[in-house]
Amino acid sequence: MGKLQGKTAVITGGASGIGAATAQLFAKEGAKLVLVDLNEEKGQAFASELPDALFIKADITDEAQVQNVYAQATEKYGQIDIVFNNAGIGKVTPTHELSYDEWRKTVNVDLDGVFLVAREAIRAFQKNGGGVIVNTASMYGWVGSPGSAAYNAAKGGVVNLTRSLGLEYADQNIRVNALCPGFIDTPIIPEESKDILKEMTPMKRLGQSEEMAKAVLFLASDDSSFMTGSSLVVDGGYTAQ
Ligand SMILES: NC(=O)c1ccc[n+]([C@@H]2O[C@H](COP(=O)([O-])OP(=O)(O)OC[C@H]3O[C@@H](n4cnc5c(N)ncnc54)[C@H](O)[C@@H]3O)[C@@H](O)[C@H]2O)c1
Repeated sequence: MGKLQGKTAVITGGASGIGAATAQLFAKEGAKLVLVDLNEEKGQAFASELPDALFIKADITDEAQVQNVYAQATEKYGQIDIVFNNAGIGKVTPTHELSYDEWRKTVNVDLDGVFLVAREAIRAFQKNGGGVIVNTASMYGWVGSPGSAAYNAAKGGVVNLTRSLGLEYADQNIRVNALCPGFIDTPIIPEESKDILKEMTPMKRLGQSEEMAKAVLFLASDDSSFMTGSSLVVDGGYTAQ
């Protein structure tokens, strides 16, 4: 029997990269899936290849759209057990050239959106008697780097949001943990940066989305049943330096 047999999981950013690889692994482990993404074409096509998946086009920064995701998911599957709160954006811009609009857009998706998705998850889990949230932060939630002030500030926020929610709901059977990836080979990483990022990583390669999916499965399943408020760093050794 699969580790997620009979469970329903919502995955934001489920059309691409780490979210899509996690959807594939969760499906293999028996989960029913609700994939949420802005990219409707990619998301619909991908969902149709999975055994039991609903795709919903939604923007995680829009409160009403996020609420609608949970309403639709509950209507189709009855109950949501797992939320992989993973959609995000990132771009390198020197801070002295960073417009306030770009700062706000990054923090809006990478922190505000994560809050909205997590809050609605908690509201749904309180009705169910429990559930699991896995937030995607980053190794840059733990350490700094030049040229990514907004992203790094938002991801640091996700790490501490995760601690705070983990504590706040620890006695309500709601676990909240974060995945902190290093450099992973997904469309978020520009082709021309890949060689430099490999060189910066002690293992001298990029991580694969499938390697992230295995860590997410650990955090989402009963294998991590005594973990909450934690962040799991999976970065090829980057933050150990
Ligand atoms: N790839 C890496 O090196 C790396 C490293 C650390 C953290 N992360 C984080 O992993 C997560 C997944 O990224 P990925 O690498 O798979 O990139 P990706 O670009 O392949 O996937 C991100 C997905 O999120 C969706 N998305 C973006 N904004 C959205 C919004 N407002 N509402 C709904 N969906 C939205 C995109 O359409 C895309 O499909 C992100 O939070 C990212 O910050 C990635």
